[in-house]
Amino acid sequence: MVGMTSTEFSYNRFAANAWYQALNVHLVELAQVQPGQKVVDLACGPGSVTKIILEKVRDAKNSVVIGIDMSSSALKQAREDLSNASNTLVEFAEGRAEDLTRLVRDKVDTVVFCNAIHLVEDKSQVMREVSDTLRSGGIFAFNSSFFKGDLTDETSQFYRRWMMRSLRILKNDFGLKPSKEKVMARQALSIAEYTEILEGNGFQVSTTEIEPVEVPLEGWQDISYFEDFIAGALPGVPLKEASHSLVEAAAQIFSEFELSSVRRDWLSIVAVRQ
Ligand SMILES: C[S@@+](CC[C@H](N)C(=O)[O-])C[C@H]1O[C@@H](n2cnc3c(N)ncnc32)[C@H](O)[C@@H]1O
Repeated sequence: MVGMTSTEFSYNRFAANAWYQALNVHLVELAQVQPGQKVVDLACGPGSVTKIILEKVRDAKNSVVIGIDMSSSALKQAREDLSNASNTLVEFAEGRAEDLTRLVRDKVDTVVFCNAIHLVEDKSQVMREVSDTLRSGGIFAFNSSFFKGDLTDETSQFYRRWMMRSLRILKNDFGLKPSKEKVMARQALSIAEYTEILEGNGFQVSTTEIEPVEVPLEGWQDISYFEDFIAGALPGVPLKEASHSLVEAAAQIFSEFELSSVRRDWLSIVAVRQ
């Protein structure tokens, strides 16, 4: 990893996968983002979904896109990548989804929340914030690959083998093992549980979809370069060694079991503010 940059362990690498982009394009399309709208990209990360939203509102002078994330390094990348968006006003704000009404004062047409809702502890509180930020009739759209019932037997088996192999490589190659520190748990809800919380906060659910995605080796390896994923999989281990172990372990398991992909299901939900 000679020549590593500060972005080496960012989300960029994973977010660049075409199949991943397609999932987020689909969500933005379900949200019916239109030119001229005011749209929040909640938990925008380094900005790959912000870019998709900008394509949809392109060239409309009064469009506004607001990217929000709690990571200053992710926002820095988003700002750098999207500084040239023509005509449309792009703003970024550092902060938590839990504080959305403080971060965005005016009502907006749409809130898109990609691949982060499983990280939120108090989902009802965040949905209340989103509801209070949307105009009546506004759209809230989110997706996640972490929800109740997300893992097929095949995927669970792959995860077990991958993690066991990563631990072995970490020990053999570096003499390291993860700490027992508690990392932020992913909070997986079912579609019914999401629906109940949404309805309790003034939304009507208009679309729920589960899409099976065949993730190739590169996808599993690319997520192994993302700091937050590494911290969840191998807590307390230095990023470089942890990432190396995860990348190598994924390659070994794919080769040994002659896998061409491993399935991962994605949930998308769209709700309308009443
Ligand atoms: C997996 S990335 C997703 C980035 C982007 N939305 C995408 O789909 O490509 C998750 C992002 O959520 C952000 N995040 C996690 N919890 C958050 C919270 N409570 N409020 C704001 N951002 C949060 C992280 O900093 C990270 O950038």
